[in-house]
Amino acid sequence: MVTSCYNLVEKEEMHMNTIVLSIDNEQQMQKSVKTAGDCIRLGGLVAFPTETVYGLGADALNAAAAEKIYTAKGRPSDNPLIIHIADIEALDRIVSEIPQKAKILTERFWPGPLTLVMKKTELVPLSTTGGLQTVAVRMPNHPLALAIIRQAGGYVAAPSANTSGRPSPTLAKHVLEDMEGRIDLIVDGGELPIGIESTIVDITVDPPMLLRPGYITVEMLQECIGEVDTDPAMVSMAAHQVPKAPGMKYRHYAPKAELKIVEGEPEAVAEAIDKFVIHQLEKGRKVGIIATDESLGCYPQGIVKSIGSRKDDSTIAQNLYGVLREFDELQVDCIFSESFSEGKMGNAIMNRLGKAAANQVIHVQKTDKE
Ligand code: TXA
Ligand code: MG
Repeated sequence: MVTSCYNLVEKEEMHMNTIVLSIDNEQQMQKSVKTAGDCIRLGGLVAFPTETVYGLGADALNAAAAEKIYTAKGRPSDNPLIIHIADIEALDRIVSEIPQKAKILTERFWPGPLTLVMKKTELVPLSTTGGLQTVAVRMPNHPLALAIIRQAGGYVAAPSANTSGRPSPTLAKHVLEDMEGRIDLIVDGGELPIGIESTIVDITVDPPMLLRPGYITVEMLQECIGEVDTDPAMVSMAAHQVPKAPGMKYRHYAPKAELKIVEGEPEAVAEAIDKFVIHQLEKGRKVGIIATDESLGCYPQGIVKSIGSRKDDSTIAQNLYGVLREFDELQVDCIFSESFSEGKMGNAIMNRLGKAAANQVIHVQKTDKE
């Protein structure tokens, strides 16, 4: 804890030494940005909103501060952090080379949900990069994030602000659930527009390689820079494949209950889930169902939640982690989820949902009644 940080705060909400700053007006915003930025500059840990998920920020160039992130999250120390910048000029000091394709991508997508892995300079401590000679960098598209990064000195290391292994936080209350008493500050920026983490591309190789899918799809990348490979470990999830983004090898995003994904033709899926639910209820278990606005009415039993609408799958991405946390709160024993691979964000959504389910996917066939 950075105790000197408390002197920066007048009157805010305290939760076991973690201060929550809420923002209702412009004046409060300026004050919170100053408090948060100064706290990071002093070596503290501050959770703040980005357009994807809440990040847990520390000074990326201060090895001791970055190390505190690992402790607060319970994160393995070989899992590197993303450095967040607010101005393109900041890039030169932390990467030794900016490939032409990186320039094209930053011009097109920054600020935005795209992280680029490049070669690091001496300035970046190995504790920020998990011992790697490369560094992941992004410029988030959220006014509070940008202002806090500038106030903090320009380089903020920020993983998602959840305990390692839990769903990423998309609301300040999720951060508080996981980080109460472990970090100095939480800046409450309300709901976030995207809801799942940034797309990660390794640009040190040619063709560049997608390491984590996100809002920015392979098609969008290819439109700008031509061929883009995909990390084979991301697609097959085979046990012998080690993902190139170290964090992708861990069982992530997991709810406390056992989660199973059911995929197939919609009617058959609804019928199968209903059968599974009845079976579990008979065993005395509490059951959750992840449905959509369109299918809510298909499930007469169990606790049914809509994750969003299939008409716009960005709503599904936005609610994904929140719904998993809601089922945790309800202490269900198991969850059955529909599958959401069809839309524009299908890859990104199923990557997270698949991990939450430890890849337990049940394929169902079309029923032949008629
Ligand atoms: O949207 C996001 O990216 C959010 C917000 C807060 O910006 N951050 C985030 O950070 O998702 P985190 O730490 O939860 O995920 C970072 C991922 C991990 O899988 C990590 O292994 C990978 O990025 N990564 C970081 N540096 C890397 C590097 N040098 N090479 C390969 N993968 C790297
Ligand atoms: Mg994370």
